[in-house]
Amino acid sequence: MASSERLFRLLDMPQDLTDAPEAVDLPPIAGRVIFDDVSFAYKDDEPVLSHISLRAEPGQRIALVGETGAGKSTIIRLIARFFDINEGALTIDGYDVRQVTQASLRSQLGIVLQDPFLFAGTIADNIRYGKLEATQAEIVVAAKAVGAHDFISKLPDGYQTDVGENGVNLSVGQRQIISFARALLADPRILILDEATSSVDTTTEKIIQQALDTLMEGRTSFVIAHRLSTIVNADMIAVLANGRIIERGTHEELLAKRGRYFNLYTMQWAQAN
Ligand SMILES: Nc1ncnc2c1ncn2[C@@H]1O[C@H](COP(=O)(O)OP(=O)(O)OP(=O)(O)O)[C@@H](O)[C@H]1O
Ligand SMILES: [Mg+2]
Repeated sequence: MASSERLFRLLDMPQDLTDAPEAVDLPPIAGRVIFDDVSFAYKDDEPVLSHISLRAEPGQRIALVGETGAGKSTIIRLIARFFDINEGALTIDGYDVRQVTQASLRSQLGIVLQDPFLFAGTIADNIRYGKLEATQAEIVVAAKAVGAHDFISKLPDGYQTDVGENGVNLSVGQRQIISFARALLADPRILILDEATSSVDTTTEKIIQQALDTLMEGRTSFVIAHRLSTIVNADMIAVLANGRIIERGTHEELLAKRGRYFNLYTMQWAQAN
């Protein structure tokens, strides 16, 4: 079992979809993701996504914004094929996600969820989860790249510090940064990020912002964004409401429209930042 597959199991994602009989392994991808008129419902009579068309070129950052229940998390669940679409087409580098093996798909996706997940073990173990065969040196390189090395070095046992139930208590921000190191080590072509909303101190916030830039560099990223900086730097922002994309464009384009995005911006982010 690939390490990413194990991570998904631990994250308690549904595992009931099976590979198609004729499924092929997804070859190494560039990271082009296309939703073509996709509709989806968890339950037959309650549409959650309606006619979603969305295109991410390799390396682009797509930010998904919108009110709670709009369908943001559902979009990223479909990319990882935790659920199958009901209508339309969803392809990665031209491959229908239903026609490739799940292991080969997920091994090329990096996923960082809102509630940073650490399991019992050492910090090194937790970072190594992104690549089970990684050496200690590779782990340190990844940790340095996301700004985790300094605080890890100051812990009593450094990288060997236990973060299990009886281990050291890390802050939410520190756990996030460790999950970034894990994702960076895995080096996926597509990154899926459900940005955490919990507030952290300003120093940690700076580290996180830089780490996010490092992490997204050169990868196609889908970010459910709460940080203004993530949103402003996105190549494209898709504004969702009731399972539809109601506006799309860059930060400047959407502000100029003075529509839903403008309202979200003035009500939420402008005040908070
Ligand atoms: N596993 C599920 N089974 C049934 N309905 C679901 C499931 N997950 C989400 N939904 C419903 O689908 C709709 C979209 O949910 P989704 O989680 O995609 O919203 P969201 O935009 O991510 O919201 P939030 O900002 O609160 O995270 C909601 O009405 C939600 O109740
Ligand atoms: Mg969500």
